[in-house]
Amino acid sequence: MILVTGGAGFIGANFVLDWLAGTDEAVVNLDKLTYAGNLENLASLDGDARHHFVRGDIGDRKVVDRLLAEHRPRAVINFAAESHVDRSIHGPEDFVQTNVVGTFHLLEAARAYWGGLNATDQAAFRFLHVSTDEVYGSLGPTDAPFTETTAYAPNSPYSASKAASDHLVRAYHHTYGLPVLTTNCSNNYGPFQFPEKLIPLMIHNALTGKPLPIYGDGQNVRDWLYVADHCSAIRRVLEAGRPGEVYNIGGWNEMPNLAIVHTICTLLDEMQPDPAGAYARLITHVHDRPGHDRRYAIDATKIDRELGWRPAETFATGIKKTVRWYLDQQGWTANIVSGEYRQWLTTNYGDRA
Ligand code: NAD
Ligand code: TYD
Repeated sequence: MILVTGGAGFIGANFVLDWLAGTDEAVVNLDKLTYAGNLENLASLDGDARHHFVRGDIGDRKVVDRLLAEHRPRAVINFAAESHVDRSIHGPEDFVQTNVVGTFHLLEAARAYWGGLNATDQAAFRFLHVSTDEVYGSLGPTDAPFTETTAYAPNSPYSASKAASDHLVRAYHHTYGLPVLTTNCSNNYGPFQFPEKLIPLMIHNALTGKPLPIYGDGQNVRDWLYVADHCSAIRRVLEAGRPGEVYNIGGWNEMPNLAIVHTICTLLDEMQPDPAGAYARLITHVHDRPGHDRRYAIDATKIDRELGWRPAETFATGIKKTVRWYLDQQGWTANIVSGEYRQWLTTNYGDRA
C-alpha cells in the first residue's frame, strides 16, 4: 500500500481517486482537513476498504510513526501543504509550519521507518515530494522555460516555503540515502479545485454574477496542467523515476490570465448563457498581488525523454471538462462558499477595488 498526505485537497483527492480507479493497491490518506481539505472530494470512496482516511498533521510524529508501523507502505507521496500564494501573503506562518516544519517531521518519520526495512524493501521504497514550479521564481517574456537545473529564486512566502521543503527532501537523499523523488509542476486545474484559485474562482463568480477580479494588467503568464495529467505523471515518476532526481511536470500550455478568463467566459456563454449578457462584462481589473511573478513556464522535456510521459489534454480540452464539471457540481462549490470562505474574500479582495 501507499501513504498519501493531503489526499483530501484538490490534487491529492484527484490522485487518490485516479489511483484506486486503476489499481487495487490500498491508500492510507493522512490529511489535517484544513480549510482546503474536503472529505466530499472522496465521497465516492465511502465504504471502499482500499481507502483508509486518517485526520492528522504531517508534522505529528506520533501519528505518522504509527501509520508507517501499522500499514508498512512501500511509498509516501506528499501532497500536504498550504498552497495559496495570496493566503501566504496575508498569513505566512502556517506555510512555514506545514510546508517546512511539517515536511521535515514527515521526512524524519520516513527515514526512521525506511531504516528499519530489509534491504529489498529499502531499495523499493520511495518518498515522492510534490512541489511547484514557483520555486524557480519569475521569467521574462523571452526567457527559456524552467528546467530541473534552473536556480531556485522563490518570491512569495508560499514558494519560499516550498523551496525550503524541496531542499530538505534533497538533503535527506544525499545525507541519509532516503530514496526520494521530487516533482515540480505548473498550475493545475480541474475538478475539486478550491474556489480561491484563478479558474474555479472565475467560474464561481461568473455563475453568481460577481466581478471577475483580474490582478494588475492580466498579462501574467502561467503554464496550465490538467490535474489528471499531473496524476498520471506522478504515477509514472513513482514507477520509474530515479531516486534523488527531480522531474518538472508541465502542460506545454502557457497562457496569460486574461486569456484564461476570456476562455472561461466564452465557454460559459455557450454552456449556460446569462440572460443579462456575455460573462466577459464582469471582468474587472483590481490592484495587483504584491510581488506578483510575471511568468512561469515549464520545460517538461526530461520526464518525456526519460519516462515517456507527456500530457494527454490540451488547454482547450481540459478547460472544457473543467467548466462542465463546475456546472454539474454547483452543490460542491455551494458547500464551500460559506463561513471561512466569505471571510477570505473580504481579506483578499476587500481593499483591491
Ligand atoms: P490544496 O490546498 O487543495 O490541498 C492541500 C491539502 O493538504 C488539504 O487537503 C489540506 O487539508 C492538507 N493539509 C494542509 N496542511 C496539512 C498538514 N499539516 N498535515 C496534513 N495535511 C495537511 O492543495 P493542492 O492544490 O491540492 O496542492 C497539493 C500539492 O501540490 C501542494 O504541495 C502544492 O504545493 C503542490 N502544487 C500545487 C499546484 C496547484 O496548481 N494547485 C501547483 C504546483 C504544486
Ligand atoms: P492562482 O490560481 O492563485 O495560482 P498561482 O498564484 O499559484 O499562480 O493565480 C493564478 C494567476 O491568476 C496569478 O497570476 C494570479 C492571478 N489571479 C487573478 O488575477 N485574480 C484572482 O482573483 C486570483 C485568485 C488569481
